[in-house]
Amino acid sequence: MKNSLFDLEGKVIAVTGAAGVLAGGTAKYLLEQGATLVMLDLFQDKVDQVVADCKATISEKVSGYACNVLDQTILDDVYEKIMAEHGRIDVLINGAGGNMPGATIGPDQTIFDLKIEDYDKVLALNLKGTVMPTITFAKAMAKQKSGCIVNFSSMSAGQALTRVLGYSNAKGAIDNFTRWMAVELAQKFSGDIRVNAIAPGFFVSHQNRALLLKEDGTFTERGNQVINKTPMGRFGEQDEVFGCIHYLISEAAKFVTGTVIPVDGGFSAYTGV
Ligand SMILES: NC(=O)c1ccc[n+]([C@@H]2O[C@H](COP(=O)([O-])OP(=O)(O)OC[C@H]3O[C@@H](n4cnc5c(N)ncnc54)[C@H](O)[C@@H]3O)[C@@H](O)[C@H]2O)c1
Repeated sequence: MKNSLFDLEGKVIAVTGAAGVLAGGTAKYLLEQGATLVMLDLFQDKVDQVVADCKATISEKVSGYACNVLDQTILDDVYEKIMAEHGRIDVLINGAGGNMPGATIGPDQTIFDLKIEDYDKVLALNLKGTVMPTITFAKAMAKQKSGCIVNFSSMSAGQALTRVLGYSNAKGAIDNFTRWMAVELAQKFSGDIRVNAIAPGFFVSHQNRALLLKEDGTFTERGNQVINKTPMGRFGEQDEVFGCIHYLISEAAKFVTGTVIPVDGGFSAYTGV
């Protein structure tokens, strides 16, 4: 008998941050697995490019909208459009997120140099930028009495990762929000609505390339520190998050909710000594 535990055929999956490295790569992978994808990212031209690329190389079962995850009017509009087109949302992947230079404490700075306006922006993008789409798109799941949400946590959520204060505070709150929403949706709507998160270790992406790699491709000092605390001794590859997310949104994980799964080459297991 065919193993259907991981079957995604017919599932409608919305992905925020879909023009980015991790969420974008995952979205394309899920399209290859037979799901129907709705790509969401900040700018129309980036979304159009991703959708056109997917249609040309993978499948026609893909559409996309410009969607700022911090704008409730846009979120509501996109929600209505998805519901009009597909009538359901089975999965939401909250991939929009990232850091910004003003909210990090540089090597020659201290906490007293923090720009609180930039701290607020990073907190908003990485926390409210998951909370707002979740509340918006989970309405479909509450009606359907089924659905899966996957959030992006980080290694900074549970331990002090120097420099990135706002980002760390937000990702710590994402772990808490993941558990909170898992309980809320299972108790008040259906045990078939699940909320989980993955906590990637260090993957080279748009937001952190300059922190980890020099222009010639060799590691920065911080890149070296990360590699030394990663037992596998390397950064993650984009496709190494696909399997964990596929598992979390599949029937194989139907009794799994409120978890945060590290995909980190052992970073979180190791003290560094
Ligand atoms: N790369 C890593 O090592 C790493 C590690 C841990 C966690 N993460 C998390 O994984 C997620 C994906 O990150 P990535 O590494 O692929 O980054 P990325 O920068 O490649 O992608 C992030 C995407 O989010 C989009 N975005 C930014 N602001 C937005 C907004 N207001 N509305 C809609 N879209 C917006 C960007 O345009 C971009 O396409 C993020 O939450 C990130 O914090 C990444």
